Amino acid sequence: MHAEFWQDRWSHNRIGFHRDAPLPLLLQHWPALDLEAGSRVFVPLCGKSLDMVWLAERGHRVLGVELSELAVRQFFEERDLLPAIHETSAGRHFVAGAYELIVGDAFALDADVLADCAAVYDRAALIALPPELRRTYAATAWHRLPSACRGLLVTLEYPQAEKSGPPFSVMADEVHALLDDDWRIDAIERRDILANELGFVADGVTALSTVVYRVVRRG
Ligand SMILES: C[S@@+](CC[C@H](N)C(=O)[O-])C[C@H]1O[C@@H](n2cnc3c(N)ncnc32)[C@H](O)[C@@H]1O
Repeated sequence: MHAEFWQDRWSHNRIGFHRDAPLPLLLQHWPALDLEAGSRVFVPLCGKSLDMVWLAERGHRVLGVELSELAVRQFFEERDLLPAIHETSAGRHFVAGAYELIVGDAFALDADVLADCAAVYDRAALIALPPELRRTYAATAWHRLPSACRGLLVTLEYPQAEKSGPPFSVMADEVHALLDDDWRIDAIERRDILANELGFVADGVTALSTVVYRVVRRG
């Protein structure tokens, strides 16, 4: 059901979550993570996000995972890259240049696949999931990332009763409940974005903020 929902979104090009530029909050907050050049960044539920392009341009290697093969094929086609393709138990891997994108289920990746990820970047991934799948996601992909991994998590907060997700509202207390056992989490920016999000205004949402968390895996 969950997979069908997203496959359907991609096959009908209903991808309003996709942005045609990297997220300004990524550009603003990523440098302070002070990662080494060449380090690998895990981008869960990656879609065909241009944030991955920005990360690669900063010298990172990118490991993405995405359910939709259409999304992954579009990502490479739109960059004129011809990926090499191989299969593992994690899924179908598309590899070109700095990018390795796995068409597969983020919840099913094992720790070996994630072992050399020095960083994680979650934009529109945690908040794409309903509550029970958020718990699954935290207990699988996030739990399996290696110690000392660090990164950014970007969420939305709004009165959930005013609109149904996705994207879902994920409040700070839930972020802590999901991740505190494994991660040190600091909210580094909370920004009111309601005026820029006309779809939310049209749906009658009365308050909308985006929150950026800096996360560091406990040892
Ligand atoms: C809201 S979109 C965000 C995509 C991307 N992070 C971005 O910022 O454009 C969520 C994406 O997660 C993918 N997805 C949902 N569940 C997934 C799962 N269990 N494993 C891998 N990808 C998943 C969907 O196909 C969709 O492309």
